[in-house]
Amino acid sequence: MVLKNSIILSCLVWLTVSCQESAQQQDHFTKQTPAEQGASLYSMHCGQCHGEDGQLGASGAKNLSTSQLSDAQIVQIIKNGKGAMPAMKALLETDENINLVVSHLKGLRR
Ligand code: HEC
Repeated sequence: MVLKNSIILSCLVWLTVSCQESAQQQDHFTKQTPAEQGASLYSMHCGQCHGEDGQLGASGAKNLSTSQLSDAQIVQIIKNGKGAMPAMKALLETDENINLVVSHLKGLRR
């Protein structure tokens, strides 16, 4: 019984700690400026193919620093994907997040 209780207790401790961690991450994110939020979202979801500077080109990704697409075209590609690029709508969750990424991406243009 003692053992069972201590297992339950450690599960509770673990749950509390992991909830706090994700709350802190969320808190950290909401305290960032919009530009910082755009940069975080970009490095989380786009950097692995496009690179931090937009020029990596992994898996055939287009160079974003020379891309001439309009905001509306970029939003479409982010939402629906294109060729080897997966749709990112679900990952980015909101239109607001998508717009933050679009502004970050345009800042990478030369
Ligand atoms: C799995 C790799 C991968 C990820 C992750 C990825 N992309 Fe792409 N992206 C591609 C590929 C491949 C293309 C080229 C698609 C084509 O034209 O066939 C592309 C094309 C684009 C284009 C079009 C550029 C042009 O001038 O035609 C934009 C804009 C873009 N990606 C933005 C993003 C953004 C923003 C994210 C993150 C939310 C992202 N991508 C995440 C692989 C990726």
